[in-house]
Amino acid sequence: MLSDEELILLKRAFGDCSSVKLVKQTTGSAKVYCAFASLLNSRVGPIPLPFFVKFDKAPKIIRELTNYRECTTLHVPFNQRPNLDHDRCLVGPTTGVIAGNFIEQSESLQDVVDRGAGRAPLHSLFEGALRGWRRQAFYAPHYVFDANILQTMRLSRPSTYSPFRKARLRKRCAQSGPHCAEYSELESLLAALPAIKHRLGLTHGDLHGQNVRVASQEAIMLDFASIADGPLTVDPAALDVSLMIDTRIVNGNDWIKVAEEAYRVEALMAPAIPPRPEDPSANLLDAIQYVRQMAFSVQLTPFEYPCVTALQLLRKASYGGMGEEQDRRRRFAYRLADRIIKEIARRMPARVEHNVA
Ligand SMILES: Nc1ncnc2c1ncn2[C@@H]1O[C@H](COP(=O)(O)OP(=O)(O)OP(=O)(O)O)[C@@H](O)[C@H]1O
Ligand SMILES: [Mg+2]
Repeated sequence: MLSDEELILLKRAFGDCSSVKLVKQTTGSAKVYCAFASLLNSRVGPIPLPFFVKFDKAPKIIRELTNYRECTTLHVPFNQRPNLDHDRCLVGPTTGVIAGNFIEQSESLQDVVDRGAGRAPLHSLFEGALRGWRRQAFYAPHYVFDANILQTMRLSRPSTYSPFRKARLRKRCAQSGPHCAEYSELESLLAALPAIKHRLGLTHGDLHGQNVRVASQEAIMLDFASIADGPLTVDPAALDVSLMIDTRIVNGNDWIKVAEEAYRVEALMAPAIPPRPEDPSANLLDAIQYVRQMAFSVQLTPFEYPCVTALQLLRKASYGGMGEEQDRRRRFAYRLADRIIKEIARRMPARVEHNVA
């Protein structure tokens, strides 16, 4: 289960304990556990509250610890993120470990959205947890950038455009049907779009329904490994696309129909007609509409959100899915991105009007 190095780190991190029982958490790519420890000499008693313990490669752990220190302490409310136990966060030659509060009695945001209770936690996510980052962009003019969106995204996250990803996207294109353009062609179309004004700020960088826990309707944000500057529409677009790709309330051809409708360019440029309450996917579509309102309220032109969403669809398409249904959805994500990019390239004027100068 744990490598020799991880075991040594665990023993050092919990050196003041007589035992630690680890329970593996199933989502995510890192090794994350809920840890039940027994303290040796605590003034309170032997049983502390449960910890979360995350092992990953040393550079990733160092990056996440730096992000916690520089970006969360003063800007994310203390009750909307785990607090780290700094004495238990350690870095070895190749591996590191982070430990902090385990969020008890919580569900993933994805599960809460799917069961139709997403409204309050989504509000808490954007107006609470993310508020401290998203508001900065309104305090000074230099947070407004005038550039091509792909160019901004490339500057802020070079790894998203790595050769590895490109190879995966070439494969996806081949699987996605005869009318889809090659990834390089989609990239050229995006690169040729005119510059637009957009607000920049700190973004979570991997906002999805498993990286937000919900306890008593409050959103608690996790996983600060991918924080980066970027357009403020990036986090909403990432959440929008992942809520759709990971939903469990519709499947198969029904999912394809729902996704096809939800990612029409018109629906990405202005609020769409709300779903009818009897629609089986109404809970999901309601949540996605809320997330889009958060994006629409920070952008300066309606062309920004479709571009950023197409990039998030491509990002999802570049990962392998777990199982046939997930694989099919990711192939379809490529088709949806293809449609959005071609249509935006056709519609976008050489000079774009902005909401404010
Ligand atoms: N503090 C915590 N309390 C409760 N559950 C947690 C906590 N931290 C992580 N988890 C659970 O473990 C899962 C994986 O954790 P995390 O998102 O930090 O790692 P990851 O996605 O594997 O990391 P990365 O994206 O850096 O590779 C989360 O989706 C969540 O279900
Ligand atoms: Mg995660």
